[in-house]
Amino acid sequence: MSSSATTSSQPRRILSGVQPSGKLHLGNFFGAVRQHVALAQEGAECLYFIADYHAMTTVHDAAALKQNVFDVALDYYALGLDPDRAIFFRQSDVPQVCELSWILSTLAPMGLLERAVSYKEKLDRGLESSVGLFTYPILMAADILAYRSNLVPVGRDQVQHLEICRDLAVKFNLRYGDVFPLPEYRLTKESKVPGTDGQKMSKSYGNTIDIFAEGKPLKKAVMGIVTDSLPLEAAKDPSTCNVFALYSLFASQEEQDALATLYRAGGMGYGAAKSELLAKIDAYFAPARERRRELAANPAQVEAWLAQGAERARAIAGETMRLVRSAVGLRSMPS
Ligand code: ADP
Ligand code: TRP
Repeated sequence: MSSSATTSSQPRRILSGVQPSGKLHLGNFFGAVRQHVALAQEGAECLYFIADYHAMTTVHDAAALKQNVFDVALDYYALGLDPDRAIFFRQSDVPQVCELSWILSTLAPMGLLERAVSYKEKLDRGLESSVGLFTYPILMAADILAYRSNLVPVGRDQVQHLEICRDLAVKFNLRYGDVFPLPEYRLTKESKVPGTDGQKMSKSYGNTIDIFAEGKPLKKAVMGIVTDSLPLEAAKDPSTCNVFALYSLFASQEEQDALATLYRAGGMGYGAAKSELLAKIDAYFAPARERRRELAANPAQVEAWLAQGAERARAIAGETMRLVRSAVGLRSMPS
């Protein structure tokens, strides 16, 4: 959809990072994961990583961090990410990004970070302040630039981070000569997926339906979707109903039209619509749930795929760091 100023006819290297900070929900799926999987399937060069260094700004328990990282990997593979097509890896398996982050920090004016809204928002939400939280955007710029990425699909909340990254790339190139392409961002297409309370679905609002929820917990989440209190017999407006909005994400146009007709006719309660939605979610994610169960029982396979991704990512970052070290006047990496 929208992107920043530059365009280029170069083959595009696409990169994005996912924080391992909790269970993925339908908003993450329709707003991000689905596009990530599709882009790789279409044959673009895609690098996706699990941002475990970043997660350390908020996850302070070693076992939880490990588990979250493993869970995100399972989620992505189960949802169809092909480890041979996409380079999918753990951020911390490429420690060169920390070196690049330091180098970029020497170029970053304090004011650039002081203007970043996400730091302030995180403090407002009660997160403990730390230098890591403050310099989060520099590490993110290093993630993007280490792979000399051209295109970064992100949610709207990450746009300022992308602007900071672009600023740092320009500053670096001006000071030391052209090393980095100017990365563009692309806003993920899906408009906001509503949560069970009608606000944007988000971990922070506690209104999520998790992708891999099933059975009772899934039923509880779906039955808990907030609706108006019109009686069974009343005609209902599909366009203002959260249940209908979620149903539409899974249903064909004909199915949506059919449910809309039932809404408008009256005589159908929200409970019935919720049951339809539940059946859709179950059917849609059934194959992914099965794959996830198989993979969860085979952690060695997951580890092997992540290691394969890390090796490919390290090769690209290693090449960039050779250029960077030479450009700034550091000795090339001792081998
Ligand atoms: P959360 O709000 O649950 O913390 P994140 O900010 O980690 O989610 O989002 C990760 C990705 O999922 C981003 O690309 C974001 O745009 C997308 N995303 C999250 N929630 C939604 C939503 N409700 N609708 C559409 N996309 C979403
Ligand atoms: N900050 C991103 C988020 O919270 C995750 C992230 C880290 C990222 N490094 C990145 C996204 C590099 C895109 C590119 O969603």
